[in-house]
Amino acid sequence: MTEEIRRWMNTEWLGKELIYKESTDSTNTRVKELAAESALHGTVVAAGAQTDGKGRRGRSWVSPPGVNVYLSVLFRPEFPPARAPMLTMVTAYAMAQAIQEAAELPVQIKWPNDLVIHGKKICGILTEMSVTEGRIQYVVTGIGMNTNMTEFPQEIEDMATSLRLISGREIDRARLMGTMLNYLEKAYDRYEQEQNLEWLQDTYNALLVNYGKEVRVLDPGGEYSGAAEGIDGEGRLLVRKKDGGLIRISSGEVSVRGVYGYAE
Ligand code: BTN
Repeated sequence: MTEEIRRWMNTEWLGKELIYKESTDSTNTRVKELAAESALHGTVVAAGAQTDGKGRRGRSWVSPPGVNVYLSVLFRPEFPPARAPMLTMVTAYAMAQAIQEAAELPVQIKWPNDLVIHGKKICGILTEMSVTEGRIQYVVTGIGMNTNMTEFPQEIEDMATSLRLISGREIDRARLMGTMLNYLEKAYDRYEQEQNLEWLQDTYNALLVNYGKEVRVLDPGGEYSGAAEGIDGEGRLLVRKKDGGLIRISSGEVSVRGVYGYAE
């Protein structure tokens, strides 16, 4: 599989070390192990199946064999830990581009980093970081892309979809993985240079499913709602409250929900 993926790759450093496993517990776990063994910046582990796929907030990620993309990337950034959450948004931006190229579908972003099509989730991103004495040791960014999956467990069937279901055709997974890595390298390089999101803000906002919509902000200090007005250059979601006040929300601090369902 690695040769097939490489056929579509034109990266300089991302995926120089590329490992493909038919099955593993979680590609994030594999990459974290490699990180502890001093693996290189840009190491990628992809798998055909995961037996313990991990989602955000301690959830699991449904990872049946042979149909989807599960891959994780090791980054060893020089920037401070506070910049790492923005990297997840950079990844979402890159994945939106990869989906558009691979399948020409109307993909949108649900802030901060879920990708949705027709209001259903198509791709999730899980970033894990290790910091020692204020310095990042590693960041692992794991991406799960529902690709050719056609059946979903009941708990998620109303919320999830796949590229195949939306496009009506089988997607070449090797090509998709190559394309994902190409866009991810470009976006990472730009972010490393700029260390803010001003350069992708307009594109990101144009894709934002919450844009102009009412969102519920589940703040530990109290729940409120308002209209989402896009992200700023630091990746914070701007929410206009009913009283006219503008709040800037950082990812990780709060959870934002659509008022009518998963992504609306
Ligand atoms: C989410 O909850 O939205 C994040 C899902 C992330 C899933 C991917 S699949 C590849 C990598 N390995 C994992 O165990 N999780 C991530």
